[in-house]
Amino acid sequence: MKVLILPDEQAAVDRAADIVARTVRDAPDAVLGLATGGTMLPLYETLAQRHAAGDVSFARTVSFNLDEYIGLPPEHPCSYHSYMREAFFDRVDIDPSRTHLPRGDAPDPQAAARDYEAAIERAGGIDLQLLGIGRNGHIGFNEPTASLGSRTRIKTLTDSTRQANRRYFDSFDETPRYAITMGVATILASRACLLLATGAAKADAVARMVEGPLSAACPASALQLHAKATVVLDREAAGALELVGYYETVHPEGRDTVFD
Ligand code: F6R
Repeated sequence: MKVLILPDEQAAVDRAADIVARTVRDAPDAVLGLATGGTMLPLYETLAQRHAAGDVSFARTVSFNLDEYIGLPPEHPCSYHSYMREAFFDRVDIDPSRTHLPRGDAPDPQAAARDYEAAIERAGGIDLQLLGIGRNGHIGFNEPTASLGSRTRIKTLTDSTRQANRRYFDSFDETPRYAITMGVATILASRACLLLATGAAKADAVARMVEGPLSAACPASALQLHAKATVVLDREAAGALELVGYYETVHPEGRDTVFD
């Protein structure tokens, strides 16, 4: 796992944006796996600014989002469809017909999950999967004890995840209980993963992901199995790592390698 530690949140976001932009510049028809959540908002903002400045185009990019709440139609203001339109899709030149999110309002969510997995395969798989991390170590909505061999399916959200998401809804009761999410194995099948974590609240989960045992108790630790996983952190999110000195030696100032 490549652990890149940057001095602050914006530096970490810029570093992650560099990796996304380079992927799209190298392969304009790249398939991006996209994430939602608070951590990703400054990343989408930065990418939108770079697009406005003429630095990067998403015109030929294909995208698949990690997850969507069950029960919310795409127009619902709290759906991840709405989040993606507002944070990113409406601000760049991506072709809406090339963007994909699971349908939270599908009449048969299990069939929708299987179809989603098949659509990713038909697109040739994901070139770069963006990820955030939950305080409990989830990636996508793969909560602790999720099978490390799982594919896109329905997951029941933990109360701690619902508490974290409650800020977007009127009450805890209205906060969705279920989601369609790519599985851990779906994520591991992507050709590269890029996980962005910022802030002290993520420090323990980050340490378990990078240095803890490989365990379904921390689904993000499955990234230890991925041959091309990059973790971009600000100093606070790196705060509980034991081997910080080593990561900073191998990747000084968050660069790719000491030879860059
Ligand atoms: C959402 C997703 C989640 C979030 C995670 C962190 O698509 O995949 O795993 O990345 O819950 O969320 P924030 O960034 O809000 O702390």
